[in-house]
Amino acid sequence: MQELSDNPALGALEPLGEHAGVLCAAAEWQSRRVFVKTLTIDDPDATLRFQHEGRVAASLDHPLIVSPLAASDRRLIFPFVAGGTLRDRLELGPLPAEQATEVVLGILHAVTYLHEQGVTHHDIKPENILLTGGEPRFWNVRLIDFGMSHSRALPLDIHSGTRMGTPHFMAPEQFRGVRGDPRSDVYSVGVLLFDCLSGHPPFEDALGWLAGLHDRLAPLPGPADLHPLLQSALSRAPAERPVSAEALRLEVCQARRRLGYTEIGPSGEHAPPCP
Ligand SMILES: Nc1ncnc2c1ncn2[C@@H]1O[C@H](COP(=O)(O)OP(=O)(O)O)[C@@H](O)[C@H]1O
Ligand SMILES: [Mg+2]
Repeated sequence: MQELSDNPALGALEPLGEHAGVLCAAAEWQSRRVFVKTLTIDDPDATLRFQHEGRVAASLDHPLIVSPLAASDRRLIFPFVAGGTLRDRLELGPLPAEQATEVVLGILHAVTYLHEQGVTHHDIKPENILLTGGEPRFWNVRLIDFGMSHSRALPLDIHSGTRMGTPHFMAPEQFRGVRGDPRSDVYSVGVLLFDCLSGHPPFEDALGWLAGLHDRLAPLPGPADLHPLLQSALSRAPAERPVSAEALRLEVCQARRRLGYTEIGPSGEHAPPCP
């Protein structure tokens, strides 16, 4: 990854939106289309968070994760991924179970790698998944946005004790301020599979569920072969969930075989996801 000067030559800058002091834009840089995040405020906490996001993202190297091409303390430049988010795709309607499980396997492939690196994402949701070409297929999945992540390698846990995350996708322990447990990501992937299959998240009153006020789970969507893994991934207690992203990935592979879905092939030098 390149060190970036404070004023890189960005062409055709096209602002896409600003959120919490970070401006997102599409641009041309070194003859390619890029996605640029720029810190626009001077707040010390926001600066620490921004630099943390850059450091974590830059430490990752995986075909289904978007890592920065270049970074400075106030700017991150990523390859531009055309095709929109999984949220954009779900707005057209739920996915057939074969595609939903394929997308989820892609996310679990990336998340297994993350966990091996000692990183937990803590903000897995359809807005943070890109689909190259808009295709809901395994090799088209790209995980983004390490703004809430936790890394064992970085001494500073800037998020500890704060309730950051998206209520519908946040695990109950994450709501209570626990950071760094990979099983919180397993929970979020369970919510994501539910959302892909049904078009809505599993708990209508997510805050009430997170606070322990009720256990009203909507009826499980999709084929019955997926219900046991959905139910366990969505357990309130981390110990009742699949032990790891890898374990959940193998359960999804087995369910897909029972359902007679097409095996997902390799891509270039990368092995197929199901053993
Ligand atoms: N590399 C990329 N290529 C194209 N679009 C992207 C890229 N990264 C992010 N986006 C789009 O920008 C949005 C915001 O980016 P994200 O990194 O999630 O920032 P935030 O912290 O504001 O959520 C994403 O939901 C997605 O729509
Ligand atoms: Mg995001």
